Amino acid sequence: IARHLADYRPYPFVLNETRLEFQLAPSATRVRAELALRPRAGLEDLVLDGGKGLRLISLAIDGAAPDPAHVSRDDEVLTIAAAALPDAPFTLRTEVEIDPSANTAFEGLYMSGGMFCTQCEAEGFRHITFYPDRPDVMAPFRVSIHSDKPVLLSNGNPVAQREGFAEWHDPWPKPSYLFALVAGDLVAISDRFATRSGREVDLNVWVRPGDQDRAGFAMESLIKSMRWDEDVYGREYDLDVFNIVAVDDFNMGAMENKGLNIFNSKLVLASPETATDADYERIEAVIAHEYFHNWTGNRITCRDWFQLCLKEGLTVFRDQQFTSDMRSAPVKRIEDVRTLRARQFREDQGPLAHPPRPDRYEEINNFYTATVYEKGAEVIGMLKRLVGDDGYARALDLYFDRHDGEAATIEDWLKVFEDATGRDLAQFKRWYTDAGTPRLTMAEDWDAEAGRLRLDFTQATAPTPGQDDKPPRVIPIAIGLISPNGDEVLPTQVLEMTEARQSFGFDSLGARPVVSALRGFSAPVMLERLLDDATRAFLLAHDTDPFARWEAGRDLALSALVVLSQGREAGADYVDAIGRLAADDGADPAFRALCLTLPGEEEIATRLSEQGTTPDPDAIHEARDGLARRLAEAHADLLAGLFERMAVAGPYAPDAEPAARRALRIAALGLLNRIDGGDRAEVLFGTAGNMTERMAALSCLLRRGRGQAALQAMHDRFGDNRLVMDKWFSVQVMAAPPAEAAAVAHRLARRGDFDWKNPNRFRALLGGLAANHAGFHAADGAGYDFTADWLMKMDKANPQIAARMSTAFETWPRYDATRRDRARGALGRIAAMAGISRNLREMVTRMIAAG
Ligand code: ARG
Ligand code: ZN
Repeated sequence: IARHLADYRPYPFVLNETRLEFQLAPSATRVRAELALRPRAGLEDLVLDGGKGLRLISLAIDGAAPDPAHVSRDDEVLTIAAAALPDAPFTLRTEVEIDPSANTAFEGLYMSGGMFCTQCEAEGFRHITFYPDRPDVMAPFRVSIHSDKPVLLSNGNPVAQREGFAEWHDPWPKPSYLFALVAGDLVAISDRFATRSGREVDLNVWVRPGDQDRAGFAMESLIKSMRWDEDVYGREYDLDVFNIVAVDDFNMGAMENKGLNIFNSKLVLASPETATDADYERIEAVIAHEYFHNWTGNRITCRDWFQLCLKEGLTVFRDQQFTSDMRSAPVKRIEDVRTLRARQFREDQGPLAHPPRPDRYEEINNFYTATVYEKGAEVIGMLKRLVGDDGYARALDLYFDRHDGEAATIEDWLKVFEDATGRDLAQFKRWYTDAGTPRLTMAEDWDAEAGRLRLDFTQATAPTPGQDDKPPRVIPIAIGLISPNGDEVLPTQVLEMTEARQSFGFDSLGARPVVSALRGFSAPVMLERLLDDATRAFLLAHDTDPFARWEAGRDLALSALVVLSQGREAGADYVDAIGRLAADDGADPAFRALCLTLPGEEEIATRLSEQGTTPDPDAIHEARDGLARRLAEAHADLLAGLFERMAVAGPYAPDAEPAARRALRIAALGLLNRIDGGDRAEVLFGTAGNMTERMAALSCLLRRGRGQAALQAMHDRFGDNRLVMDKWFSVQVMAAPPAEAAAVAHRLARRGDFDWKNPNRFRALLGGLAANHAGFHAADGAGYDFTADWLMKMDKANPQIAARMSTAFETWPRYDATRRDRARGALGRIAAMAGISRNLREMVTRMIAAG
């Protein structure tokens, strides 16, 4: 039952209008649908998506019930034979009954905290009514809602509102995945936005009564996003209202339903007391992301789900640009590369590797991945670098002109770049179709007599599941040259590599320069070059490109950690160089904070396995601990000074500048905590006026084994705040000593407030364990077994969440034989489960195949 890109064919009917009428009741909601259809070319059977959960009450074509012999159903579709259809425009009317209260998968129409809400992407609409539930079937919607809930919302503009009833009209043709409905006891904080061409838009952020005082930042972020999309992309909003709703039970982060974005409440609600700086930054970015989808996703959507990165890669790229403009661009770039490596490189090098545009899937929800999203964004970044800012702007204008109102493909996307810039992108397209992370090597050849430097590059990509052959790709390599005295002799220049091996020469150089390579992380590749620690330290001190500077520090740390984890001595250069950087008050505190943060254990494991060494999680844990302690001992006074000086006076503000100071303060605390026994953390926990510092202090205390009083205090104060309690669950597992992590998770899972059906709470615990590298990969298999047991339990309630969390196992083939056996055993147990969902089955099957 795999779907294939090559099998695409247009839907044989055109849908001119969709009318829906909802009679809401928690366990028996009636949905009446009226679809204005016409055969596209020759008349064929009418196949509508819609599964077992739909109880069919009635069905009529142009007002008459068809002969039952012409109507058939299976688990997935309802088919009306062509013989029962007119070869002309007709109206299909259906009425179904559904049970939102029993919908624990949170896909389609479901209940969250007494409120009705929907999640339709990718294929949730088919759980609401019979419909051509595919993104290339687009229609304007008219929706009426009968319910005793006070607030009744759907897409588009309001047409009528009275007690117990509301009607909405969305004039912009849209696919079913963008449909949304919300009914509940909600309150709004409201504002207005005047678009550049004068449209007055009512803005609302809807939350549960009592949460209004935590919705203001989301509203500010929305207004900034609307202005930015006008200023930078020339895109205006196109309806009279824009509604955002926060819900507690939500499978993903948020959803861009036309005019009615629905959000996981953790991405809306924030106050200094309850949210961290990272939460604020994330809220700002996701509000922007969903808003930007109005053009890149909604006005121009995807022809089919294989094209998902057409909207997601582009919209992530846009939200990254937005955050760079709102905050520090270099820091944002470094953060994005860290996420890319931690999530996408990991995916690309394991059993779940797939291209940004896959050509086969069983369950599309399994492809909302770091590759589709984050690598999809990287590919656009490369494209922009290759065609330049002007070329990019022209291509985007052409994209919006040419494809507005359409369901487009990656081919359409590349064609606008070709037409706008005259560039042939045939080879570049491989970035979309080929999986795997290219390994780029760079060697230097210096001719002192001629003053000439030659750089020799090779590229190679290892086979990935189902793709053995990896032809060379176009790789933009941003390079700069720095003279031995620290001056830049060649500012950033982009080399375009297209062959498997290729050389580039630089002439008229006085002295041998130091090469700053892959500036700004100009391509998502693994760069390998032989560099001694002294040169890395030189780049960390002198590179003008902030990313490359940070990267030099990271390379220093990683090379030391690799050696240390193998029981040998290393790290002296790193400790010195970091000390100099930390002392440099001219550098951005956020940048210094990033440099003071040691690579994570997972990242060290990845580096080791890239080098062909089997990672030992316990040795990695020890090595990292040891190096952090050495950093702290070597620079105790400096760090203590930073910890004091970076304290932010006055009321909390979530802006980049004070957040940067807090980040540096916390980075210093994390190191000092290894030598002060936790004393500073204890004081900070008791005095912190914001969640950023409170959480950091709590984590430090737990790592010193003295967190119990703080945990209790936090529970006493925030026990009724779900979002804070999610943090409370996850920090305990993340900060547990590896040998105890699974036991801590067990104990927490037995608590009455471990509301496991809530995706946030489940992710807090299971994701917290997965983030404890040595704990999850404990040699006795306790982490694997705990996770497998819960995945099996969750699968029965919510297959999407179970499948997503199963990626905790995706690196299993790289560990030692003992761990591999235990992981294989856990995966095998899951695979053998009776009644396993398609979601989880596809994931574990792919993961097992790799072993
Ligand atoms: N389109 C949403 C976003 O990026 C994600 C929705 C994914 N939902 C899902 N069930 N796969 O912003
Ligand atoms: Zn998105």
